Amino acid sequence: MSSTIEQIKEKLDIVEVIESYLKLSNAGSNLKACCPFHNEKTPSFFVSPSRQTYHCFGCSSGGDIFTFVQEIEGIDFMGALKILADRAGVQIKKTNKTQISDKEKLFDVLETATSFFEQNLKIEKRVGEYLKERGLVGLTAKRFRLGYAVDKWDALCNFLKDNGYSESVMEKAGLIIKGDKGYYDRFRSRVMFPILDSSGRVVGFSGRIFGSDSQKNQGHISAKYVNSPETDLYNKSKILYGFDKAKLAIRKSGSCVFVEGQMDILLSHQAGFENTVAVSGTALTVEHLNLIKRLTDDLIIAFDPDDAGVSASKRSVDTALSMGFDVKVALLPVGLDPADLILKNKDEWSNILENAQHIIEFYLDVLSREDMDQRSFRVKVGEMVLPYIARLKNKINQAHFVSEVSRKIGISEEPIWEELRNLSKNIKDDVVGNSVETLNNNTKNNRKEMIDRKILGLLFWQEEIKNPILNVKECKQKYKDIVEEEVFKKIENMEIDDKKKLIFEAEVYYSDMKNIDKEFDELMKYFEEEILKERLEKVMGKLRISENKNDPGVTDKILEECQKLSEKINKLK
Ligand code: CTP
Ligand code: MN
Repeated sequence: MSSTIEQIKEKLDIVEVIESYLKLSNAGSNLKACCPFHNEKTPSFFVSPSRQTYHCFGCSSGGDIFTFVQEIEGIDFMGALKILADRAGVQIKKTNKTQISDKEKLFDVLETATSFFEQNLKIEKRVGEYLKERGLVGLTAKRFRLGYAVDKWDALCNFLKDNGYSESVMEKAGLIIKGDKGYYDRFRSRVMFPILDSSGRVVGFSGRIFGSDSQKNQGHISAKYVNSPETDLYNKSKILYGFDKAKLAIRKSGSCVFVEGQMDILLSHQAGFENTVAVSGTALTVEHLNLIKRLTDDLIIAFDPDDAGVSASKRSVDTALSMGFDVKVALLPVGLDPADLILKNKDEWSNILENAQHIIEFYLDVLSREDMDQRSFRVKVGEMVLPYIARLKNKINQAHFVSEVSRKIGISEEPIWEELRNLSKNIKDDVVGNSVETLNNNTKNNRKEMIDRKILGLLFWQEEIKNPILNVKECKQKYKDIVEEEVFKKIENMEIDDKKKLIFEAEVYYSDMKNIDKEFDELMKYFEEEILKERLEKVMGKLRISENKNDPGVTDKILEECQKLSEKINKLK
């Protein structure tokens, strides 16, 4: 394994790998970009060609090509290994079967099941004909690895057993279900659509009913679609159907088209609209949108123009808008989904996409067409349109729509702004608001830790280079004097990788700075201040306890300690 990793690292340059996801610009001997892992306007994400690493000063994510691909694709190490090995043209050596992880076992059984379904499709000509009727060419079916689950209760289960898979693995992969009389296949008499993760591995299935089958004979009507349950691999809030094949096109075209179903994806991709993705039976979640957000801010949602369609998409639209997406709607003719439309006339779909309207304009238009008096119109706009405007992250966009609304409802802008301010107070407890807040909490760190990182980075970096500006020995002593014994020991024994990260940070940050020694003293001052504050806080805690215990002797002593500490802090300032 380790040799495979080395080989890949030799063949791939981190700059090239990262550049296929982000636009990098020069920053001295390094390159920089706005961090793809947290929201920011000025770049604090740096890539070092000489070290073959990256680091973000904003959210302190960092690592090598493997961690980068893992993070940006939202996949595990094995997934990243597969992507990078393919890219480098390096073969992955199969590890011993007994050593593979539980997740690998699930990937493995799903892969075998996929081949089995693919094989069935080749044999069962009726299914192939049905797909042709729906407008699919063989190549598309192959590319998306479509298959067929035969009309039996145990076909897959038996096949997998014969190939050495245990029922427990099959069950964990969501392929079989435990009944009264033992296990049976979840998917029967269905066209099988494998669901892939962003690195192209099968994590689940969606199966569309095919033909008249034994299930009807059994007397119950089965659902048009049966999907894999949530498993260790398949989390439907995180997986977008078609995403693995759409990524590149999304980045290139600068927009992402969002549709509802598998057939819509297949026909869209076949017709050349490769920037199209879908979810399986849920609204768009923050996690889905995060995958897209790294590639583009422009989202086009295919809309069924009837009321049900509009309200079904409402949640997705809300979430997308508050995450800063520009949301547009592609209005479908009544009763047609993109698959039907493309089959009928693909140019028409192309036109619709090109003329997609901003969601807010769309709602304004819908309301203006409705027959109502001026007063009700104003109320409706307030209820239905203003919440969307309140969610816009882009202030220029927001101002544009405020003036638009003001014109349409014949009211000056000020009361509209007032209403928006009220509305945004309520938006705070959105899902999105929460996730942004957690991000901030995680990334802001406390001040002390940030300063500490900088100091240590400076020390390690200066220690490493030939002509250091700092007197490292002296500086280390200063540091040792203010931190506790065991903290210092920990630092002396720091892992080499952690050390490298700190060095890289310092190098990027300080290599162009002239007065590093002054900077160091400054940092030390702040650091000491933070340490003293921390101590003071602890002592204050003790003080409260002793006050409760009503022990004046102890209290006085602690109080004295508090005073000393705060004097020291004041002196530093
Ligand atoms: N879906 C689902 N479970 C259902 C019905 C639908 O998960 N019981 C999902 C499927 O992903 C499906 C999508 O919702 O592709 C859209 O559903 P629908 O419009 O009913 O199906 P179509 O994709 O139009 O399928 P077809 O054209 O083959 O009838
Ligand atoms: Mn359909």
